[in-house]
Amino acid sequence: MPPTERLEADGTGVARAAALLAAGALVGFGTETVYGLGADALNDRAVAAVFAAKGRPRFNPLICHYTDASAAFAHLETSPLAHRLADAFWPGPLTLVLPRRSTCPVALLASAGLDTLAVRVPASKAALALLNEVGRPIAAPSANRSGAMSPTTAAHVLAELGGRIAAVLDSGACPVGVESSVLDLTGSRPVLLRPGGTTREAIEALIGPIQAGPAVVAGAEALRSPGQLASHYAPSLPLRLDAVAIEGTEALLAFGGVLPGAGATFQLSATRDLTEAAANLFAGLRTLDARAASLGLSRIAAMPVPPTGLGLAINDRLHRAAAPRGG
Ligand code: TXA
Ligand code: MG
Repeated sequence: MPPTERLEADGTGVARAAALLAAGALVGFGTETVYGLGADALNDRAVAAVFAAKGRPRFNPLICHYTDASAAFAHLETSPLAHRLADAFWPGPLTLVLPRRSTCPVALLASAGLDTLAVRVPASKAALALLNEVGRPIAAPSANRSGAMSPTTAAHVLAELGGRIAAVLDSGACPVGVESSVLDLTGSRPVLLRPGGTTREAIEALIGPIQAGPAVVAGAEALRSPGQLASHYAPSLPLRLDAVAIEGTEALLAFGGVLPGAGATFQLSATRDLTEAAANLFAGLRTLDARAASLGLSRIAAMPVPPTGLGLAINDRLHRAAAPRGG
């Protein structure tokens, strides 16, 4: 495969990215949350290639991205609740899981054998321009190798998947920085499978109390959201949570104050702003991982972050990054 093209998110770049997608190639692109690894959702072979490029297990389904709610819902069995959520939060970082219609043309592999499909309408201008230009839904997991942290810049995408995908559409750093919230609407009550860029509080203010999904689990069996694997979003160094002091040769992921004695420090937000911290999270972990390796540090210590608002998604990602590695 030729080297991965880096495309500017202007008219020319978007047209090139759309042409590649239409031809069945894989293209990384920025959304407001994280970079996605896009494929034409209607093309079985392109969707299969996404799993191969990421090394993603085939039991873990993909999110399909649409230009608007009516395009998404034309493929799904919807409900008044789904429409209310879409009206309130789309375009934006909320993914809804709904039953596929029998006529749904999206590759079955995107659903990984489930009879449901996860859909969202992204808010970023570049992502919407690409969706409009290509004229069909784009299946896109986060543009990282399976088990690694989601990329929030085009450089991260190239580090993860350079040489394995046709192009990356560079729209700059992702403003939200954590993935979308995934809400399962297929049961009698909505279940939050993954906390993310749309806060639980905002969802509950609209539709009332929601159940939280399965806690971090170790295996793939019995999962409603197979992406809920314990070790996920992981840096290469071990991560220690809720650090209140540095122990040994550690790098520090700071929130608010800093702890003395760290070999390297990355500040998520000096003012304890959770929006800023979410936007910095994955870049911070990547930066510390690289610096700690070159300095010979043995671990990353993460200071506690409150579990409210975007802090819920931040804590979820930190807990997964700290979970025992399954190899
Ligand atoms: O913000 C995001 O959601 C980004 C951008 C690119 O849109 N995408 C993303 O995709 O994070 P991915 O594949 O890394 O995470 C999708 C999550 C996984 O946990 C997956 O298991 C879950 O959504 N999921 C996808 N389809 C599902 C389905 N039909 N039922 C239950 N969970 C599903
Ligand atoms: Mg992912």
